[in-house]
Amino acid sequence: MRIGVLTGGGDCPGLNAAIRAIVRAADAHRYHVLGIREGWYGLLTADVQPLTVETTRGLLSMGGTILGGSRRNPLKVRGGLKTCLRNFRKLGLSAIISIGGEGTLNLAYQFSQKGLPVVCVPKTIDNDTWGTDTTIGFDTAVQIATDAIDRLQTTAESHDRVMIVEVMGRHAGWIATYAGIAGGADAILTPEEVFDLTELLRIIHLRARRKRRFSLFVVSEDAKIRLENNKILKTPLKHDEYGDVKLGGIGELLARELRKRKIPDVRVSVLGHIQRGGTPTAFDRILATRLGVHAVELVREKKFGTLSVFRGNRIQAIPIQDAAGKLKTVSPELVRVARVFFG
Ligand code: F6P
Repeated sequence: MRIGVLTGGGDCPGLNAAIRAIVRAADAHRYHVLGIREGWYGLLTADVQPLTVETTRGLLSMGGTILGGSRRNPLKVRGGLKTCLRNFRKLGLSAIISIGGEGTLNLAYQFSQKGLPVVCVPKTIDNDTWGTDTTIGFDTAVQIATDAIDRLQTTAESHDRVMIVEVMGRHAGWIATYAGIAGGADAILTPEEVFDLTELLRIIHLRARRKRRFSLFVVSEDAKIRLENNKILKTPLKHDEYGDVKLGGIGELLARELRKRKIPDVRVSVLGHIQRGGTPTAFDRILATRLGVHAVELVREKKFGTLSVFRGNRIQAIPIQDAAGKLKTVSPELVRVARVFFG
C-alpha cells in the first residue's frame, strides 16, 4: 500500500513530528509513504517525494514542515478536481493523510465527498478545529506567547507602561486566553466577545491607584473593541492572494485610542509568526506522534472520511463532516476564569 501525506495551510511546530510518526507507523506495516508538497495543491501538480524511515530521521524536534505548506486551493483551478483524482491514481496511492487546519479540513472533506480515501489530522496554532480538545502546534504557540508576556511584564513594570501584546489565533481567542491566563494579563481581548474601551481605562486607573502603574493586555488579532460612541474598533478586512482573511494591526489601533485618552506610555508588541516557528514542546511532539500513528491505523482499517482527534487524553476518530465548516471558540467557562484576574 502507498499512502500520500500532506501538510496544508500555515505551518506550525509539530508537523514534522507527525510526518515522522506516519512514516514510522506505515513502515511497521510495510506501507510506503509519498510526501505531497505544498498541501492539497501538490496533488494537482503531482509534486511528490518518497518518505522513508531514513529520510525522516531527526524530524521529531524540528519546527516547520519538510513538505511545505500552502493555502492554494486546487479545486479553484479549472479542471482541478479531475487532475487531482487522476494524479491520485497515477501515483498509485491508496489513501491520503491530510494534516491541516480549517481550510485544509474543508478541502479534505470535499475530496472525500468525491470518493477520495482521506484521513485527517488536526493542526493549527489557533486551536479552533472543532471536535478535538487540542490541535498540533497550539501548546507550543501558547508557550512562546507566555514566555513573551513574562518578559514584557518586567519591562512594563520598570517603565510604568501599558503594554499591548498582539497574538495570533484568527477568529478564535485560544492563544490569547491561554497565554493571557498563564502570563497574568490584566485583560484579554478575544474575537469571541466585544470588549469595552472604558473597561480597559478603568483597569489602568484602578491599578494605578493600587500603585501598579503598569498594565499588560493580551489582544487577539481579530479582537473587537467598543468605543464610547459604540463604534467597534477592529482590524480592517484584508485578504491574502488566496482569498484568506489577513489579520494583524489591532494592537496599534488600540494603542492609538488609549493615547488619545491621555494614557501616555503605551507600547505594542506583535508576536506574529514567532508563534509558529521553532521547536515543538514535548506536549506537541507527543500529540503529533499519537495522532500520526492513529491516522495510519485508520488507513489500515479503511476508516476513511475521518478526523483523528484528541479528547480527554484519548485519541479517537470522528467523521470529517462533523468538524468541517465549524469553528471551536473559547468556552464561556474559560472566559469567566480569565476575568477573575483582570485588573
Ligand atoms: O492559522 C494560523 C495563522 O497563524 C493565524 O493565526 C494567522 O492569522 C494566519 O495563520 C497567518 O497566516 P499567514 O502565515 O498566511 O500570514
